[in-house]
Amino acid sequence: MSSFNLKKRTVIITGASGGFGSELTKILINDYGCRVIGIGKTKEKLQALADSLEDGKNKFKYYVFDVSDRENWRKFADKLTESCVIPDLLINNAGIMPPFEKFEDEDGELAMRVIDVNLMSVIYGCEAMIPLLKASRQGGIVNISSSSAFSPSVGIAVYSASKAAVRNFSMSLSEELYPDIFVATVCPGFAKTDLFRDNDFDDEDFDFISGLGSDKKDIAEAIIDGLSDGKKLIICGKDSRLMNAMSSVAPVKSNELYSKVLKESKLNMFRNLKK
Ligand SMILES: NC(=O)c1ccc[n+]([C@@H]2O[C@H](COP(=O)([O-])OP(=O)(O)OC[C@H]3O[C@@H](n4cnc5c(N)ncnc54)[C@H](OP(=O)(O)O)[C@@H]3O)[C@@H](O)[C@H]2O)c1
Repeated sequence: MSSFNLKKRTVIITGASGGFGSELTKILINDYGCRVIGIGKTKEKLQALADSLEDGKNKFKYYVFDVSDRENWRKFADKLTESCVIPDLLINNAGIMPPFEKFEDEDGELAMRVIDVNLMSVIYGCEAMIPLLKASRQGGIVNISSSSAFSPSVGIAVYSASKAAVRNFSMSLSEELYPDIFVATVCPGFAKTDLFRDNDFDDEDFDFISGLGSDKKDIAEAIIDGLSDGKKLIICGKDSRLMNAMSSVAPVKSNELYSKVLKESKLNMFRNLKK
């Protein structure tokens, strides 16, 4: 596909109340005249986003539900059908990240939650929305994976696994659904967002993330540009492009090097990797 037309489309975004999701919502409404249906867990955050949209507020509607629950997606699909809403694009963006620590020290319940929110929500969302997207004149799905899908990292083994699974699921789906539905897979690098809320980060950690990574607005713009250009794999952020290049050439060596850098880092965020 040479391009995906975003003008005046109806877009569903999971995790709309957070970092990339709220930036995507603002761009799609303000620059493309889209109607956005946001999904999130916290009503107050979704309402705050709605209020910030000012003139675009009437183009934003939100639903509060846990995207890791399959039944919630079924009910949501029924609501859209009853209201005669035909979505054009689903952006599976919601995700969580546990603190950086070794797998053996990780809370097992939290690890399973990461798989449920980061991976199962994407599968359930696609399952429920594909029949509806097929009714669009040009339907699309965007699945947000991560640079950790191709560059696994010590301290986030389960998170990396969830994102690698999202990438492979998404890329398989892309070929299965083509040309009826266009599917793009996104692998962003680091950006300072609330994703790290459960990490005990200090200013130095955030300076590191900001220096290495990108601004959340730049990531959102790169996603929109990549989608508009019809790219099936969108790698955004200089750190993500570097990791992709290194892991393509030398997957084991690059993983060893990257892990060594994190383990020897003096940053607070990686302190549990030294134990
Ligand atoms: N930031 C990065 O460095 C980075 C890098 C690579 C990939 N990513 C990926 O990018 C995506 C967006 O992350 P972000 O950085 O924008 O994080 P964020 O600011 O924490 O936003 C995450 C959003 O997901 C929502 N969410 C979480 N669990 C949910 C659930 N069970 N049901 C419904 N909504 C839920 C959150 O809602 P509440 O706030 O109400 O919980 C929030 O709106 C994630 O998939 C993340 O893994 C991020």
